[in-house]
Amino acid sequence: MLVSGRGSNLQALIDAIEHGDLPARISVVVSNRPAALALERCRQHGIASRVVELKSHGSRAAQHSVIGDFLEEHGVELVVLAGFDRILDPGLVRRFVGRILNIHPSLLPAFGKSLQSQREALEYGVKITGCTVHFVTEDVDGGPIVVQRPVPVREDDDEPSLSARILAEEHRALPEAVRLFAEGRLRIEGRRVQILDAVLR
Ligand code: GRF
Repeated sequence: MLVSGRGSNLQALIDAIEHGDLPARISVVVSNRPAALALERCRQHGIASRVVELKSHGSRAAQHSVIGDFLEEHGVELVVLAGFDRILDPGLVRRFVGRILNIHPSLLPAFGKSLQSQREALEYGVKITGCTVHFVTEDVDGGPIVVQRPVPVREDDDEPSLSARILAEEHRALPEAVRLFAEGRLRIEGRRVQILDAVLR
């Protein structure tokens, strides 16, 4: 998983795995920020983590190349962006084609390419917003959509209240998408992601 901050989506995956609801393992967490609270969550749950800062590598391409090497060393099958606050270098996207998921706090394609999607949704006056888990491509926030969950905007919403309700849905959407991937049930067909029926075992 790639993170930058609070790590509540990381925590949602940790909880789902620890409760036996998600057949997956978080092999490593990479943060581009040393102060990320997500790193403390890793320590508490015995998950390997590493900080890879831009300033230590000079360019985004070099930094993300190191991140890619690290992920490959750990043999990761899926890369999950959970609050990672930088656009992935195209070279890193190409190394993990069809194997990177991102969580975004709006119903894409609305309010994409923004770190303030909740505020923009409120200011625009939409009545429904939500969250999206999508595959990452070189088109920022434009990859094939896996899971979306709607959130109605209330008359008295402000940015914190709306963000909190979207976040609660993110914490459902991300484990759901990772579970579908882990179960081999996602098939990318152009822009669409087909969700295959569960195989009865
Ligand atoms: C979430 O709102 C996510 O959609 C966005 O960044 C935020 C990360 O929150 N990409 P957290 O670090 O998982 O708590």
